[in-house]
Amino acid sequence: MTDTPQVPPQVPPQVPPPVAAASLPVAAIQTIGLTKVYRGVVALADLDLRIEKGDAFGFIGPNGAGKSTTIKILSTLVRPSGGRAEVCGVDVTQRPDAVKPLIGYMPDVLGIYDDMLVQEYLEFFAAAYRMRGLTRAKKIDEVLELVDLTGKRMEPVKGLSRGMGQRLGLARCLLHDPAVLLLDEPAAGLDPRARIEFKELIQELRRQGKTIVISSHILSEIGEMCNTIGIIERGKLLFSGPITEAKRRLGQEQGRVVCVRVTEEGDDGRSTTALLDLFRGHPDVAAQREGGRGEVLIRLRDGVVDTSFLARDVVRAGLHLIHLAETEMSLEDVFMHVTKGQVA
Ligand SMILES: Nc1ncnc2c1ncn2[C@@H]1O[C@H](COP(=O)(O)OP(=O)(O)OP(=O)(O)O)[C@@H](O)[C@H]1O
Ligand SMILES: [Mg+2]
Repeated sequence: MTDTPQVPPQVPPQVPPPVAAASLPVAAIQTIGLTKVYRGVVALADLDLRIEKGDAFGFIGPNGAGKSTTIKILSTLVRPSGGRAEVCGVDVTQRPDAVKPLIGYMPDVLGIYDDMLVQEYLEFFAAAYRMRGLTRAKKIDEVLELVDLTGKRMEPVKGLSRGMGQRLGLARCLLHDPAVLLLDEPAAGLDPRARIEFKELIQELRRQGKTIVISSHILSEIGEMCNTIGIIERGKLLFSGPITEAKRRLGQEQGRVVCVRVTEEGDDGRSTTALLDLFRGHPDVAAQREGGRGEVLIRLRDGVVDTSFLARDVVRAGLHLIHLAETEMSLEDVFMHVTKGQVA
């Protein structure tokens, strides 16, 4: 199963501080000063991460940021060069055999088991988890049902579409009922219906009390599935915490933004120009720009509470107001603000 060679530590191990402060409960995942260097390439630089039990944690960052590396270390497949990582308080380097039952790892690529039938594939992994007899048969039925692949049981794995392959990968990592799921880009390649079903599946798994780590580039999906996020770039953690907190902080930093739309007068964009002219230099407006589709986005100055002047001025100017609402920060806004677009 190891898809990355284990390399000896290249950075002197640090003296780790105590795992968890006495006042804090044991985290589902905790890394302290986690470092990984691949032949001179620093993939992870001193990563301190804490994910609480029951969280759905979205792990986001540009290509090469170190997401898969972190997930592989937590899955015991890659040895860190320094620092430490724990799953439910168990050290992944010192006690990998105790960590394995706790985690379900779904890699970004499924691997090649082409000659097997779906049923055989799951039998193979269930046997690896030492499941036997009726327990094994029942569990396989259960996971196939959960990922909606019961009808494909006797099909060869190679006959599955990409999305079905992803679902089979998820079924595989649910066989031993792990407490923590580590899913590396699990929704890549799923069709829109499969994505919605996948989202529901994640919600069901959360209801079962599992901790779920999902790396993905599809931020809208992370926004819908996860309650917390970690943003990583060039092996460094730039933000970690609740999504609401990330948006709130960005909102505080950037100020409130109001989206205004008026009826179009032909395609010459005259209405947006008129809107921009209307609020240019207004004492309560810090900045404004066109937002596409005839919208103008108006950033208010700090401390402006009463926004009624916007509607009043638009109407007074003879423009036909059709939409005026404060915009909510999106995860894309947060991502673009926090990361610099640096690729390792
Ligand atoms: N087996 C390896 N050997 C050498 N370098 C590696 C290896 N695996 C990863 N790296 C390097 O480590 C860095 C982090 O890679 P990683 O795969 O963890 O990024 P990622 O965040 O998962 O990116 P992506 O979004 O593209 O999946 C990159 O610079 C990558 O080239
Ligand atoms: Mg990756």
